[in-house]
Amino acid sequence: MPEVYNWQLGRNMEYQYEQNRPKRQVAYVFDPNKCIACQTCTISCKQTWTWGSGQEYMLWNNVETKPYGFFPTGWDVMLQSLMGEGEWANGVYEGQTVFEAAPEGERVAGWLPDDRDWAYPNLGEDEPLGIAGQGTHIPDTPHDMWFYYMPRICNHCTYPGCLAACPRQAIYKREEDGIVLVDQDRCRGYQECTKACPYKKVFFNTNTRVSEKCIACYPKVEEGIQPQCVVSCIGRIRMMGYITPADEAPDPNNPLDYLIRVRQVALPLYPQAGTEPNVYYIPPVHVDPSFTTQMFGPGVEDAIKTYQSTKTDERLLGLFMLFGSTERILHSFDVRDGIAYGYDEKGEEVVNVPLEEPTFIRDYFDTVHENYILNVT
Ligand code: SF4
Ligand code: SF4
Ligand code: F3S
Repeated sequence: MPEVYNWQLGRNMEYQYEQNRPKRQVAYVFDPNKCIACQTCTISCKQTWTWGSGQEYMLWNNVETKPYGFFPTGWDVMLQSLMGEGEWANGVYEGQTVFEAAPEGERVAGWLPDDRDWAYPNLGEDEPLGIAGQGTHIPDTPHDMWFYYMPRICNHCTYPGCLAACPRQAIYKREEDGIVLVDQDRCRGYQECTKACPYKKVFFNTNTRVSEKCIACYPKVEEGIQPQCVVSCIGRIRMMGYITPADEAPDPNNPLDYLIRVRQVALPLYPQAGTEPNVYYIPPVHVDPSFTTQMFGPGVEDAIKTYQSTKTDERLLGLFMLFGSTERILHSFDVRDGIAYGYDEKGEEVVNVPLEEPTFIRDYFDTVHENYILNVT
């Protein structure tokens, strides 16, 4: 089997096909610290792409509560049991990926959820680890009782498990942006893709008998607009853009490179699986780092320190202020004189946001209309 380089594992690994990185790769940063599980993202995706028959259970975007929420049930517990235990030593993963742990005669170590596993998308919602007595006050960070919300979509992996497993070669990764798609004409419904995806983000349509998945909203992305789930997020926890391929130096003016590769404040989800996922998460600061480390890898504690320094770090603060500030995909950014600027592919300014919102205090008495005004906004 060919050897490919996986920068998230810090080593080479076995993969079904030769290394073939796209010219540029779509990537997302999600900040669970700000997610309120309102599910606006879930519904905006559903209304756009999966409202038809056979798609009832499909949530290309879902938001689950950790530690007890899963969709499908137990997906990450199953993933870890398939891979077995592994350790990180100086940033190198010394365990088996889903490709390396594959049983004899199979391409990927996987499992196929059954109907009941797909039946409870809100399982474990708002359930904390630990029991809160009445009037409980939690003064310390990390908390000894916690939960957090995990928004999840397809990771448009660099080494997709779904693509490696499909015997029909019906799944492909686009050269121009790394988006992973199912070719509906080639697909014959074998469901090896669903079985192999470590994140369980390929869904079988029981009406059409072919599989479907998140398409990264490519019709919007091709127009320079961020995906539906990103722009509809009312918590402004998401940013989508492009990450520079791992064999090239990161660009510190590219928002995604800056967060993921330069400051390393956003980390991949279960990098141990080996698919090099391209949705990156800022670890929740209030959660026991031993839990988040098994989920996001060994960079968790440093990422939290960097995130907590945001209030004195104008460049990082400015970049976070640009989350949710525009529909356009930002290719570069700058922060100067208290204002964060976002630029499109041509370098033209598409948005600017002050780091501090100006405050206006109105007189409580309007002399023109002889009226008292409540300063409620
Ligand atoms: Fe394929 Fe799953 Fe990776 Fe998406 S998250 S590209 S469905 S392996
Ligand atoms: Fe749905 Fe588009 Fe978000 Fe994918 S990127 S989960 S298709 S809204
Ligand atoms: Fe292949 Fe999955 Fe279709 S394995 S044939 S893309 S159902």
